[in-house]
Amino acid sequence: MRYAVTAVSGQLGQEIARKLIARTDRWSVIGLARTPANVTELGIDLRPGDYDKPEDLQASLAGIDALVLVSGMAPPEDRIGQHRNVIAAARAAGVRKIVYTSIQGPKDGTAFSPVVQSNRQTEADIRASGLDWAIGRNGIYIEPDVEYIDTYRAKGEIANSAGSGKCGYTTRSQLAHAYAALLTREDLNGQIFDLNGTPITQPELADYLNAAFGTRLTYRSMSAEDYVADRTAELGDFIGPIIGGIYDGIRRGAYDTPGDYEVVTGRPHQSWDDYFSSLTR
Ligand SMILES: NC(=O)c1ccc[n+]([C@@H]2O[C@H](COP(=O)([O-])OP(=O)(O)OC[C@H]3O[C@@H](n4cnc5c(N)ncnc54)[C@H](OP(=O)(O)O)[C@@H]3O)[C@@H](O)[C@H]2O)c1
Repeated sequence: MRYAVTAVSGQLGQEIARKLIARTDRWSVIGLARTPANVTELGIDLRPGDYDKPEDLQASLAGIDALVLVSGMAPPEDRIGQHRNVIAAARAAGVRKIVYTSIQGPKDGTAFSPVVQSNRQTEADIRASGLDWAIGRNGIYIEPDVEYIDTYRAKGEIANSAGSGKCGYTTRSQLAHAYAALLTREDLNGQIFDLNGTPITQPELADYLNAAFGTRLTYRSMSAEDYVADRTAELGDFIGPIIGGIYDGIRRGAYDTPGDYEVVTGRPHQSWDDYFSSLTR
């Protein structure tokens, strides 16, 4: 069997490749990258993988049995077509199975919903492709909150619109373990799985960060409108509403799901006690 992972220059694609190598060997894993120069020390065959270059994609997928399509970063209206390029190339190249890294979240009603809708469209395109398939719906990454610790420390608080909503966060490493399983296990084909850890509130997140980093963060709830405006002022018109919309979704309960992690991997998702105690500062 030969496995390929797209966007292997990114953090999730790279982690998936590492987990696949550990499960198989480095000759069985091929990385596709738009920017191969961004790939660090994987020791695998790298091939061209720009989602906007269908001919490259088809040539790169020659001889591949099963493929992980890592969701792209383009605006939703462009992303659907990019993912269709990958699916069409996989079919034309004779790939047998495709696994897609989708996202959890509400299809309507938040500023993040257009991204969720584009992911749902790709799910539908994959299900209609005629290939074997499996789909993971990722929880929200927890790493950005950890990387934001200096800013949180300076502000003394976490302020957002999640309110008392719980979020089943995850980590790229935990997701990668699940995607290696989805790619290599045939008994999970034809199903969609929520991939996330135990849901926690924002005050609980503040407690975990305080314990790991010695901070004294408190939590302050903001309105959805104020938080979208706050994020847009800091992050711009594309990413700002996306981040604001995610927290609006948390407040609405869209990420408060037990998830299917253990079904996919045969073991529980890493606990937040374990994750945060592994962080040293
Ligand atoms: N669950 C969450 O909380 C969450 C948060 C953020 C994003 N996401 C989604 O998860 C995906 C993976 O996350 P990540 O942490 O790996 O992000 P990342 O480290 O920023 O990597 C993004 C990857 O997408 C690649 N890419 C972008 N446009 C492409 C194109 N046109 N053709 C081929 N590759 C392209 C980039 O390639 P280059 O090296 O060429 O730039 C890079 O490898 C993201 O793309 C996004 O859809 C999820």
